Amino acid sequence: MGLQILCFAILFLCVVYPEAALEPSQNQSHCESQCGDQSVPYPFGLENNSHECFINSSYKLSCNHSFTPPKLFFSNVPIFNISVETATATVHLDTAYTCYNKSGVEVGFSQTLNLTGWPFTISSTLNTFMAIGCDTVGLLSYEGVQRGTGCLSVCDNSTSIRNLTGITQQVEPCSEFGCCQTTKIPKGLKFIEIDLLSLFNHTYILASNPCDIAFLTAGPNANLVNGPEHKVSSQVVLDWTVGDTTCDKVKNICGHNTNCTNSNYSSGYRCSCWQGYAGNPYTVEGCKDMNECANEQPCKQGTCKNTPGNYTCQCPFGYQGDGKVGCSISTASKIIIGTGAFIFLVAFVLFLHWRYKKKIQEKNHRKNGGLLLGHLSLKDFKETQLVKATNNFDARRLLGEGGNGWVYKGSIENMIEIAVKKSKGIDQNKIEQFLNEADVVSKINHKNVVKLLGVCLESKVPMLVYEFVPNGTLSHHIYASSSRILSSWRICLKIVAETARALDYMHSDANPPIIHRDVKPSNILLDETYTAKVSDFGASKLIPKDRTIEPTTQGQGTFGYFDPEFFQTGELTTKSDVYGFGVVLMELLSKQKPLSRGQSGESISLVQVFTSALENNQLDQVLKVPVATERETEDVKIVANLAVRCVSMSSKDRPTMTEVADVLNGLSKEYRSSQVEGSGDEMVSLLDEQDVMSASFDLEYSSSV
Ligand SMILES: *[C@@H]1O[C@H](CO)[C@@H](O)[C@H](O)[C@H]1NC(C)=O
Ligand SMILES: *[C@@H]1O[C@H](CO)[C@@H](O)[C@H](O)[C@H]1NC(C)=O
Ligand SMILES: *[C@@H]1O[C@H](CO)[C@@H](O)[C@H](O)[C@H]1NC(C)=O
Ligand SMILES: *[C@@H]1O[C@H](CO)[C@@H](O)[C@H](O)[C@H]1NC(C)=O
Ligand SMILES: *[C@@H]1O[C@H](CO)[C@@H](O)[C@H](O)[C@H]1NC(C)=O
Ligand SMILES: *[C@@H]1O[C@H](CO)[C@@H](O)[C@H](O)[C@H]1NC(C)=O
Ligand SMILES: *[C@@H]1O[C@H](CO)[C@@H](O)[C@H](O)[C@H]1NC(C)=O
Ligand SMILES: *[C@@H]1O[C@H](CO)[C@@H](O)[C@H](O)[C@H]1NC(C)=O
Ligand SMILES: *[C@@H]1O[C@H](CO)[C@@H](O)[C@H](O)[C@H]1NC(C)=O
Ligand SMILES: *[C@@H]1O[C@H](CO)[C@@H](O)[C@H](O)[C@H]1NC(C)=O
Ligand SMILES: *[C@@H]1O[C@H](CO)[C@@H](O)[C@H](O)[C@H]1NC(C)=O
Ligand SMILES: *[C@@H]1O[C@H](CO)[C@@H](O)[C@H](O)[C@H]1NC(C)=O
Repeated sequence: MGLQILCFAILFLCVVYPEAALEPSQNQSHCESQCGDQSVPYPFGLENNSHECFINSSYKLSCNHSFTPPKLFFSNVPIFNISVETATATVHLDTAYTCYNKSGVEVGFSQTLNLTGWPFTISSTLNTFMAIGCDTVGLLSYEGVQRGTGCLSVCDNSTSIRNLTGITQQVEPCSEFGCCQTTKIPKGLKFIEIDLLSLFNHTYILASNPCDIAFLTAGPNANLVNGPEHKVSSQVVLDWTVGDTTCDKVKNICGHNTNCTNSNYSSGYRCSCWQGYAGNPYTVEGCKDMNECANEQPCKQGTCKNTPGNYTCQCPFGYQGDGKVGCSISTASKIIIGTGAFIFLVAFVLFLHWRYKKKIQEKNHRKNGGLLLGHLSLKDFKETQLVKATNNFDARRLLGEGGNGWVYKGSIENMIEIAVKKSKGIDQNKIEQFLNEADVVSKINHKNVVKLLGVCLESKVPMLVYEFVPNGTLSHHIYASSSRILSSWRICLKIVAETARALDYMHSDANPPIIHRDVKPSNILLDETYTAKVSDFGASKLIPKDRTIEPTTQGQGTFGYFDPEFFQTGELTTKSDVYGFGVVLMELLSKQKPLSRGQSGESISLVQVFTSALENNQLDQVLKVPVATERETEDVKIVANLAVRCVSMSSKDRPTMTEVADVLNGLSKEYRSSQVEGSGDEMVSLLDEQDVMSASFDLEYSSSV
């Protein structure tokens, strides 16, 4: 079935094809010829063109080169223009005129246009017939003057008639008296004659209006030009068609991309390019797609894109609609822009917040002694860094409370453990104290002094970042029953020796010397190998060169450890630390708090108890240190004596920290050198201790004065 249709189609093509190829069979691309400034498009051609350049001799035009520029003619009619697009030609036709004198017509000319034998007809739609005069009948006759149309104009001698002689432009004569016109022109006229008549031989108006004119003109107004020999001519539009056949009779009679339409007033057809195509539709090539985009931007908005027979105006990205009419923001864009605007707004608000925070931080930084920092080679921590490290100062991470701040355990990147000390107050005094600590500690580089890693000054309250010392305070180990670390005299001795060394360093080697002012067991930290680390320098003072601190300085330190001489003299010296250290020694040896309450509520001073025990040779009653050997017993006595000397009421009677350190280190050294002999038990127990410690880590601070 399908095959049959195919065969039939092929057969049909074979039958039809020869006839289809009949008409514009020739190649006219070389024929487009000029006459002067007029082009002569196919199906028209010039006399000297070869025969394929015009459809038949009726379309053969002549070019008279005796004119400059040369003029195009058919028969004796000058052709002003030929348009393939509208299938029209514009020709010049002299006006008809009549002039009168007292005895009647003085001179008169009628005009005829004979299109017989030519493919032209008078355009019925594009021309207007006009007559100008005040006693005037204009006649447009056709087909042998038996039939015709016309118009009549009558007016008195007060009407001034426009003198159209020599006028070569469009005029609008019939807007006034003295003119008449008609547009009722029949279709398909091949012959016209234009005449003028007068009702009264201009008898009454001769003076004002001796001459009448009549003409057929293109358009609604008079299109007049100066004709040859000082005549006035008008432009007349002619239609033209091709052939005496119809579109359906011959296939492909027009070129490519064209439509064929039958003439509605004569035999013949017309070819026209499809919309959006241009070219000569009567030639084989026919019409080609116009690139609308090559001309001046045809799009109202967007990017012009040529398509076959048309063009599109693509709206810019994010816009919708037809760019020919105008683009509007697409819904998606609106959403995106809306979202974008929202995000921008949020971002802006965040930015402002960030700026504000930053400003506050900067302000704090300034306030918190950013200048101080300049001298120190400390790391300047960011507040966010520390907030993160301490899980926003989680209470569970609180290690303890010092005199001037809380200490939190933190870890940076889960790697480096730190202790963050956060100032307790935001008042200037507290902050100064805090910064004082930073200043002091930063000047100490001793293995038995807890190391300051950095500061954070941008936060509202300044923060100090210390190395994390994992094994708690000496105070904890003295009093916690779970702690077995101090069950070894060697360790006890080592811890106090190291502490003494640190204090000695601060007193003697630091420049300027530093008084800790708050020496007590809870300020002595123990690291993983139970090495002592002196901490909490909030109350410490750098002693200026004149050695003493002005008496106005308020006492800072912990009751029970505090140098009583200070209350009398108001003078704080390194001997104050010696006093404190003496109390520490006593505490360690006796496992008693420096101040406690007796059964009847009376206040008991360890210093008094210890001193009197020593004086009364009753030390055994207060000592609670594990002594195994004779030597250890001797050592304890030496240390107890040292402790009592340290807490002498008069600072002059107290040994210096150097002396204390020498004694303790001397004792400690003996154990160190003999340690090789000792069993490994101690070390094993130490490690066990470490495990216990890390499981029940707890800090204890005494309250401050
Ligand atoms: C017509 O002739 C021109 C050269 O004169 C040639 O370029 C063109 O392809 C020809 N067209 C056809 C349809 O034969
Ligand atoms: C036709 O005649 C004009 C003027 O005489 C000349 O310029 C033109 O080249 C001629 N055309 C042909 C095809 O001979
Ligand atoms: C050209 O025009 C002139 C003046 O109107 C006329 O004398 C001449 O015969 C014309 N020539 C042709 C070839 O028609
Ligand atoms: C000829 O007619 C076409 C179409 O009407 C017009 O575009 C062109 O300007 C005309 N040429 C002259 C010289 O009047
Ligand atoms: C007008 O003049 C012509 C002669 O020129 C004459 O035959 C005619 O009768 C006159 N008509 C009138 C109305 O005077
Ligand atoms: C009017 O014109 C005609 C023809 O030109 C002439 O014979 C006649 O003498 C003229 N009459 C007057 C009064 O000039
Ligand atoms: C028009 O011209 C043709 C020949 O060109 C002629 O046969 C015909 O008689 C003319 N018609 C008129 C009305 O003069
Ligand atoms: C116009 O005509 C009137 C009579 O209708 C006459 O009296 C008058 O003089 C004329 N005017 C002119 C300027 O000819
Ligand atoms: C019209 O004007 C021309 C010159 O522009 C002149 O020669 C002619 O006499 C005038 N005609 C009338 C009726 O005034
Ligand atoms: C030219 O063709 C037209 C129709 O296409 C026809 O009427 C006319 O007789 C033809 N003229 C000549 C000279 O072949
Ligand atoms: C061409 O003809 C088709 C149908 O014959 C019509 O739909 C279309 O509008 C025509 N195009 C032009 C440009 O005349
Ligand atoms: C060109 O495209 C527009 C829509 O963009 C349409 O309205 C118009 O009819 C098209 N013209 C042609 C010739 O297809």
